[in-house]
This record gives sequence, structure tokens and C-alpha cells, in this order.
Amino acid sequence: MSEQLDDEGKLQHLLTLDGISRGMLEQLLQRAETLGAHAHGGTGLRDVLAGKAVCTLFFEASTRTRCSFSLAVQRLGADLLNFDASTASTTKGESDLDTLKTLEAMGVHGFIVRHKSDGAVAALARSALPETVLINAGDGRSNHPTQGLLDMLTLRQAKGTDFSALKVLIVGDVNHSRVARSDLHALRALGTGEIRVCGPAALLPDDDTLRGCAVGDDFDAMLDGVDAVMMLRLQRERMAEGLVASLDDYHRDFGLTATRLRRAAPDAIAMHPGPMNRGIEITCEVADGPQSRVLQQVANGVAVRMAVLEALLG
Ligand code: CP
Repeated sequence: MSEQLDDEGKLQHLLTLDGISRGMLEQLLQRAETLGAHAHGGTGLRDVLAGKAVCTLFFEASTRTRCSFSLAVQRLGADLLNFDASTASTTKGESDLDTLKTLEAMGVHGFIVRHKSDGAVAALARSALPETVLINAGDGRSNHPTQGLLDMLTLRQAKGTDFSALKVLIVGDVNHSRVARSDLHALRALGTGEIRVCGPAALLPDDDTLRGCAVGDDFDAMLDGVDAVMMLRLQRERMAEGLVASLDDYHRDFGLTATRLRRAAPDAIAMHPGPMNRGIEITCEVADGPQSRVLQQVANGVAVRMAVLEALLG
């Protein structure tokens, strides 16, 4: 946490939600709520980052995070550079750090970085110029802080700002999920009443990731009375690793169906960070149904990312 703060305790980078204060989180969420009105059009905020240059530096695939950050940068009036590792000199062996230094030399102020390796974004932040800002857009299985923020905004919009009586269930491959880790960091910081985690034992971490959570593998029992169900994407390579017997078995035991969702509170919401494996971890009936907040999460991504960019670069 401390490596993302400046000498005055303000955020210089956004690398993780681990250790972030409740006040800082609530301030970002409140601002995102306000900016939501501008997230889907208009030119009223084009002076916020005017004259700044921001690069989306993605070494891994993305639709939601990359596109929403790109829109957020443009809504705030910064120049946007989209770096695509598959067509860049990365393919000739240029290192990540040389890539960063090259773009810094061109006058880029902010970098939104996605990387397959845990800690890669923090490592770049340690070697960046003092005035450079880095935002973690997902590193390995460690952190996806803006996904955590947009999930909290979605929860607040559905359930209010006081999380102390909320029961939230996270389901699936928590062990390989940076989304789950950032959600857990944020849910704890916001004082969530009860956090439950459900998945096959082979896909649950055995370190302190789940501290304070009720953990189990009986999805039906764990759904009982929850206010929100946060489904995770099943990474199909886990089958090749022998961690999941078959997709059919996974769906039977951990797929969110309309019948199952009736075990949750009547006004419970269903969430998924995307991309979804429809018919595996979530049925179409739920994903497209009245309790789904999947597209609300996507919409909130633009507002949250505008708030983060403004806080760090504005
Ligand atoms: N939720 C999420 O990070 O989606 P993308 O991989 O499409 O950015």
C-alpha cells in the first residue's frame, strides 16, 4: 500500500486496494457517483486533464477495462495513446521497463497497465519518473483495483452506502482471481457485515486471502439470504491443470441458475466482472435477468476510472 502513496499520504499510483483507507475509498466512490452523469457523453469535463498524455499499456487482452479507461481518458480531455503489445517492439524483445521509459521520454504522464505477472505494475512504478502515475489495470492474480471500485459502486447503488448489514457471497475460482482479491480488500475496508466465499477446494487459496470470510463448497447453503452474489469467471485452463473435473460438473455445483438465485434475499443482485462463460458459471436467464447488474458494472467502469484518473492526474 505505502508504495502507492506520496510523502503526504495521497495516492500517487493506484496499484492495489489492499490497505487503502475507508475514507479514501468512499471519496473515490462518491466522486465516481457524481462523474457517472458525464461518463456516457458530453464535453463538460474536457479541461480536467487537458494537456496530459495517458497511455493504456496492455500486455494482456482486455475489452472492458481497456475500452472504459480509453473513454474515461477522453472524457477528461487527455491525449490517449493505445499501446498494443502484440504489434509493438515488445515482439522484438524490448523489455517492459524500456517500453515505459520510451513512452515517458515522449511526455506520457499516466500509464494504465495490465500484465500477466503478479507485481509487474508495482515494479514499473518503482522505476518510473517521480512525476509519472501508474494505474494497475490487472496484474496476474494479485490486484484489479478499478474492478474492485466499480463493484463497490454497483453494490452501493443497489444497497446503499452502509455495508455493515450486507451479506455478500463470492463464488468460483478465487485462487486465480485478481478481481476476487480486490473485491475482498474493498469489502473489508468498507466494513461489510458478512463475506462468504464458495468454490471447489482446489480453486480456493490457502493463504490469508480469505481471512474473516465464511468459506465452503455448498453453493446452495451459502446462498441463503445473501444480498449480492459475485460470480467469477472459470478460467478454462484450470481443467487442463486437473483442478476442475468437467465443465458440466462445475456448472452443476457452482453455476448460478435462476432456481439457485431464489435462495438469496428476494432483492439480491447478481454480479459478474466479465467476460462471462454463459452456461458454465452463470446461466443466460440470470445474466440477462432482472437481478443481474452485469451491464451496470460495465457502465460504472467508465465513471470509476474517470474518478481515479482525476484523483491521480487532475
Ligand atoms: N473485468 C475485466 O477486467 O474485463 P476485461 O478483461 O475485458 O478488461
